[in-house]
Amino acid sequence: MELKLVRAKASELDVDAVVVLEWEGSPHPEFEKPLASFYSSGEIKGKRLEFTLLHGLEGYKARRVLIAGAGKRGKFDAAELRKLAGAAVRFLDGKGISSLAFVLDGDPTAPEYVTAAIEGAILGAWQPDYLKTENEEKSKPATSITIAIQSQDPEATLQNALEKGRIIAEASNLTRDIAVEPPNLLTPLILADRARRMAEACGLSFEVLDQDRMRQLGMGALLGVAQGSAAPPALIVMRYTPEKAISSGHLALIGKGVTFDTGGISIKPAEGMEKMKYDMAGGAAVIGAMRAIALLKPPVAVTGIVPAVENMPGSRAQRPGDIVTSLSGKTIEVLNTDAEGRLILADAITYAKQLGCTHLVDVATLTGAIVVALGHTSSGVFSNDDEFLARWMTASKEAGEKMWHMPLDDEYREQLKTVYADIQNIGTRWGGACTAAMFLKEFAGDAPWIHVDVAGTAWLDDAKPFLAKGPAGVPLGSLVNLAVNWPQSL
Ligand code: BES
Ligand code: ZN
Ligand code: ZN
Repeated sequence: MELKLVRAKASELDVDAVVVLEWEGSPHPEFEKPLASFYSSGEIKGKRLEFTLLHGLEGYKARRVLIAGAGKRGKFDAAELRKLAGAAVRFLDGKGISSLAFVLDGDPTAPEYVTAAIEGAILGAWQPDYLKTENEEKSKPATSITIAIQSQDPEATLQNALEKGRIIAEASNLTRDIAVEPPNLLTPLILADRARRMAEACGLSFEVLDQDRMRQLGMGALLGVAQGSAAPPALIVMRYTPEKAISSGHLALIGKGVTFDTGGISIKPAEGMEKMKYDMAGGAAVIGAMRAIALLKPPVAVTGIVPAVENMPGSRAQRPGDIVTSLSGKTIEVLNTDAEGRLILADAITYAKQLGCTHLVDVATLTGAIVVALGHTSSGVFSNDDEFLARWMTASKEAGEKMWHMPLDDEYREQLKTVYADIQNIGTRWGGACTAAMFLKEFAGDAPWIHVDVAGTAWLDDAKPFLAKGPAGVPLGSLVNLAVNWPQSL
């Protein structure tokens, strides 16, 4: 995507389409006369995400003008503009438009609006159809985006704002590129390869632990899950070291990377099983976040860890009743092989601590129970540390990613007791997202830790006006903001 920033008026922009904001309740002064009939007929009301496309408007160099409803002025913010920009790009897709300009005049001229418009446009242009062969159905979004702005801010401030939007959105699209790959084409080793390519391109140090190395280290929980698949597992490690670490602490971002979850011997029903290709969405978000962090260079060390496995049934698969010894030394009775995410994360969390990480965030499509609890709107957040949690909530609010704080009372631990081992991997029927989180807490120990269950939010079953269906990229923005806003002293 080609991106430009210009200080020009809407009428002067020589592009295929220029997008102009229309506020609800106050007709745009420039259009009030020429478009009087649109206003009187109620075709233009300025309601949120209402679009009116005009060809050959007099006085405009652009071939088309898109009047984009922005809703009520008082309710408009950068998050709204992000959506509006994405929706505009999607509205114009397939209409033969390659160059597009957004006009930010009047109110939304602050640098954060430049970031939001760019972010929204790049996110909106992404489509899940990379495996469609060329035909007229395949999407053809705009390839050049211009932001036309009337602002007092210095050029450098605006350029930085544009770059920030580009970095975050391109990282999110990388996450979605990886998450959308079907499970036959994205095995654990191929996922590791995707991460390696990203790390090499952005100057991160990179390492993959293979099965032998994991066996030497004693990652019995992860290997138990992996043993049923012909595809070998991989533990992906990406390291960002700041040039000058002015902040103390070492952040670990850990993402569940189950490239396909059949459930194993505790096999899932056939209906809807194809969706379990997105069981690596947490891992994909971590890989994307590491890319953005490498480019934005926050002053804190960040290590990204993705345990990657395929959960399959078969003659070598682990059985319900198996007891495995995790990297932490704790023994785990595997009562349900479909509760595999927590097993691989247990070893990844322990490994992060062994690497010297002080603060842990794990992201996982961990439970169906969180979807029952929160639906597809908010991700569920669990933590053992109020201060760290507060920083996470701020980071997510800034990113426009909804999070809901869930409970982790000691009572949930009771459900994980077994006489045969230190802990068992499932609880009772109720509160499944909480017992899953409680299981992970056992391995985080005293380290400040946040667990984000994105089972309901990482995948859109239906397109939104501003986002295609498929992987949503969540919670990449929160992960990046958490690192970028890291405090100087803890
Ligand atoms: N990957 C699933 C969770 C999931 C469900 C993700 C729906 C996305 C959408 C996870 O590995 C799983 O199967 N969890 C079980 C746990 C149960 C066996 C305790 C579940 O939620 O049913
Ligand atoms: Zn499962
Ligand atoms: Zn799973």
